[in-house]
Amino acid sequence: MIAAVVRRVAYERRVDVGLIVDDVAIEPCAAVLEVSDGGVCSGEWGPWLPGFVREAMQPADRQRRLGVHHTPPQVVGDILDLLERTTGPIAAHTSVLDPAVGGGAFLLAVAERMSGDRVGIVKNLWAVDIDPIALAAAHSSLSLWAGVPVPSDRFVLGDFLASSTSERLPDRVDLVVGNPPFLSQLRGPTARGADARAALRARWPDVGGYVDDAGAFLLAGAERVSARGAMVLVQPDSVLASSDAAPVRARLQAGAPIRGLWVDAERSFAASVDTVAIVSAPGKPGPVQVGWVEAAEPTAASWGHLLADARGLPVIEAPNAGATLGSIANVTAGFRDQYYGLVDAVVDDAAGDHPLITVGLIDPLRNRWGVVPARFAKQRFQHPSVDLDRVDPGIANWIQARLVPKVLVASQTKVIEAIVDEVGCTVPSVPVVSVEPGPEAPSLWHVAALLTSPFATTLAVLDAAGTALSADAIRVSAARLARLPLPLDRDAWDKAAVAARRGDVDECGRAILGAHGLDHRSDVLEFWQARRPSSFR
Ligand SMILES: C[S@@+](CC[C@H](N)C(=O)[O-])C[C@H]1O[C@@H](n2cnc3c(N)ncnc32)[C@H](O)[C@@H]1O
Repeated sequence: MIAAVVRRVAYERRVDVGLIVDDVAIEPCAAVLEVSDGGVCSGEWGPWLPGFVREAMQPADRQRRLGVHHTPPQVVGDILDLLERTTGPIAAHTSVLDPAVGGGAFLLAVAERMSGDRVGIVKNLWAVDIDPIALAAAHSSLSLWAGVPVPSDRFVLGDFLASSTSERLPDRVDLVVGNPPFLSQLRGPTARGADARAALRARWPDVGGYVDDAGAFLLAGAERVSARGAMVLVQPDSVLASSDAAPVRARLQAGAPIRGLWVDAERSFAASVDTVAIVSAPGKPGPVQVGWVEAAEPTAASWGHLLADARGLPVIEAPNAGATLGSIANVTAGFRDQYYGLVDAVVDDAAGDHPLITVGLIDPLRNRWGVVPARFAKQRFQHPSVDLDRVDPGIANWIQARLVPKVLVASQTKVIEAIVDEVGCTVPSVPVVSVEPGPEAPSLWHVAALLTSPFATTLAVLDAAGTALSADAIRVSAARLARLPLPLDRDAWDKAAVAARRGDVDECGRAILGAHGLDHRSDVLEFWQARRPSSFR
């Protein structure tokens, strides 16, 4: 049985393993796992195997509840490379803590990087895990590496975020490493109880009790790092830019600011989350090592630009103050009710009074209703039109409120695409966003121009860069569009509006860049042009 588990896990980890049972080789091998009478593992990969086995033997629900996704050895290596590039080589006799040790992958890899007596090295390693089997796996892993049983008093069973656990750990260590659980606290079996929430709120009032576990480990880990020490922890990429994590970023910047960022380009973890690793160290904030590139010091508001640098995206900053699109227009989109409420009301009618506009009918400054077919509720329509008499009464008011002059914006596209409805007769399908200018807005065309610009698209991509690493398309939610800053240079904005009315997408985009004082940013213009549908380049 053990042989089967080991083989399966080793296969998934892309590690070559052969087995010798009672000294009889049962297959040729690149590295050897000896399962002899005493159940001892040895050989190059031996110390790693208890961790592999522990992960493989987790029932799925427990794996979800505890966030058990061990870090593959190759990934640990890449992360420690970045740590050493950022904060210097890991010295022998460094004291190290992994607050969610799992199978011990990080401690083992750190130990392997230290030179000197193995028994002395392991004496400086501390481990915490809430699961006794994990702790036992990490313990046997390091004992195998050291060649002697490691003293077990430094393997602490408990919740790293609980004070009862902290009391059993040293106040400060030179290095905190690991891959803490990424448990959401919003709902479900992974949410912490009221007492634990209250304790976290009392500890970090600015962050609150609903901080997710990954963020809480980042803060608790940073508090244990000695003045000249460092920390590297794996995190979900949402820590970089999500507004929920803003207090975590602000607090970290004030204590042990971010110094390095590793980006997982390959989704190496079994969890369906894009991951990064954050290197941080006490001192003043400064530039950040992103892979091999040095990026500028981040603001606490968002670290999205770090990811942008890593991915070669152009970086622009939105001004913090000033008027936004939401201050001159009502920005809204339908949801489930609006979608289902229209299902029985859409007919194919070339002379219909109320064309239904789906995402697929919106191109930059060009409405393709009637030109190309549209799909709605699993049907194809050449001229999708809404028969107001057949609309579900529950959404009739919502539809009436949309029958005003407006700009309609497509979602899930590679650039923000907007069209103008001057008459006010069209109905937006879900998830099209409707931007309805109020009396303060200069004109519909000014609004359409603002949206049809490299400025709006680049900001949306940078925003998404921290929350959807692999997504090529951007999701233009109504809330995001409402935050779009208005240009300060009114003359340039007027020019952009004229170009938009002419349907000149390029000229419109260039003029809006100028209106935001970014005429010199040809990189931003080219980035936007390259992402546009080919017929609009
Ligand atoms: C993502 S695994 C990481 C394991 C290990 N760091 C690695 O890279 O292989 C997360 C580990 O955190 C443990 N864990 C979950 N909640 C914890 C908590 N509150 N305190 C300490 N450990 C916890 C789980 O049992 C699991 O072993």
